[in-house]
Amino acid sequence: MKVRIDPERCQGHGRCYDLAPGLFVDDEEGYGTVLGDGAVPPGKERDARRAAANCPERAIDVLEE
Ligand code: F3S
Repeated sequence: MKVRIDPERCQGHGRCYDLAPGLFVDDEEGYGTVLGDGAVPPGKERDARRAAANCPERAIDVLEE
């Protein structure tokens, strides 16, 4: 599984890195970015889906692989 943030849609609400700090971080302007290449480590799948479901801009894609 992988996560991805669409920078066109992200408005910096910050729920992703609050809810799943193991998967997302904030950049210097408060926008969300994925950690590393966005690969979701085993056991973090629920966090990934929760972050995606809680992004008000629907900017997070969860890619099942
Ligand atoms: Fe951006 Fe959504 Fe996170 S708007 S900062 S991807 S909660």
